[in-house]
Amino acid sequence: MDSSRLAERMRHIGASPTMKGTTAAEKLRREGVDVVDLGAGEPDFPTPPHVCAAAHAAIDAGQTKYTSNVGILELRQAVAARYLLDYGVTYAPDEVVICAGGKQALFHAALGLFGPGDEVITHIPGWPTIVEQIKLAGATPVVVTTHAETGFVPRAHGLLAATTARTRGLVINSPGNPTGALLSEADARILAKEAAANGWWIVMDLCYERLTYNNVPHNLPGIVAEVMRDRLVLAGSTSKAYAMTGWRLGWAVGPKPFAQAANALQSHSTSNASSITQHAALAALTGPQQCVTDMLNEYQQRRDQVLEWLKEEPRLRAVVPQGAFYVFPDISDFLSPDGFRTSLDFCDALLAEECVVTTPGEAFDAPGFMRLSYATSLERLREGVTRLIRFARKHAPK
Ligand SMILES: Cc1ncc(COP(=O)(O)O)c(C=O)c1O
Repeated sequence: MDSSRLAERMRHIGASPTMKGTTAAEKLRREGVDVVDLGAGEPDFPTPPHVCAAAHAAIDAGQTKYTSNVGILELRQAVAARYLLDYGVTYAPDEVVICAGGKQALFHAALGLFGPGDEVITHIPGWPTIVEQIKLAGATPVVVTTHAETGFVPRAHGLLAATTARTRGLVINSPGNPTGALLSEADARILAKEAAANGWWIVMDLCYERLTYNNVPHNLPGIVAEVMRDRLVLAGSTSKAYAMTGWRLGWAVGPKPFAQAANALQSHSTSNASSITQHAALAALTGPQQCVTDMLNEYQQRRDQVLEWLKEEPRLRAVVPQGAFYVFPDISDFLSPDGFRTSLDFCDALLAEECVVTTPGEAFDAPGFMRLSYATSLERLREGVTRLIRFARKHAPK
């Protein structure tokens, strides 16, 4: 079909590029090829059994109908209780909206808070959906680049330097995808003070909040809420912490007018998150948390191993991620005008020659890098890194 028949907004929006590798891998696997998939943006662990059992019980108990748009009260209470426990912030159940994933929570934030004429600041390398959602809301994304030399850490002074009279808000992702970088508590304090003084919103994408390493203090909600609770929106999710990506459950937490806006948006789009999933999420949030700790420990072991293995080829330079489950090495030493010109070319050829799925930096607005997901077994990781190093050396510019 002629794409000029589509709505004007579709000229500016592309499908999420992070799923492309997964689709290519699936095709190769169906052909019987031994693919190493380091592209996945999701845990390789199964959803914990007690969570699955709660979903079965919900079906058996007939919890298969619409729920209120904002989600069942028990789950909203459980989200509020978790934030009180984890961060010391107090939210009422009517300040919590249960959504179909953190992605929808962030979409509500974009549509509910930003519009034409507004500039919204975020940081790159970053998860592409944040920028696309700001555009879908009709607002203008302003991206601030973070750098490998400083661990890709978004800094308050860099973000604030990008503000103008049109600034309406900031969207911060911490821990960050694809870098694993954390916003520091000190920088959160500075941002909150400035945002409060200027009437900006702060939207925090905390979808990887339970996956931080070495107990680095990361109480961003506590710090920001203390200064500007009435303009803070927190987006969270069961996807990554509880290995529940397919269940589609997240939440938006924010002041009542925002929660009402999100309720209205949801009531005219998807209504409610799946009733069965909501009961599963309730079990995830209120049940034993050892499963989260166990997965986190495993991710940390894998992270340390991958970083160690990558050192076998010093031209693959990787920052130590502080959270999430990705490493984001700089591969620019392997790019050249006569060889692979871009990281996209590099990753495509790596898939074609060595059957290793990765995600090129271009997907995160960061050409010259590649994302390796370590949400896969140590054995497959070892195989994937071995193939990557073999490939990189073979094609290194002379
Ligand atoms: C940075 C970031 N935020 C939010 C999400 C949303 O996840 P979900 O919609 O599964 O909760 C993702 C998923 O990949 C992500 O990487």
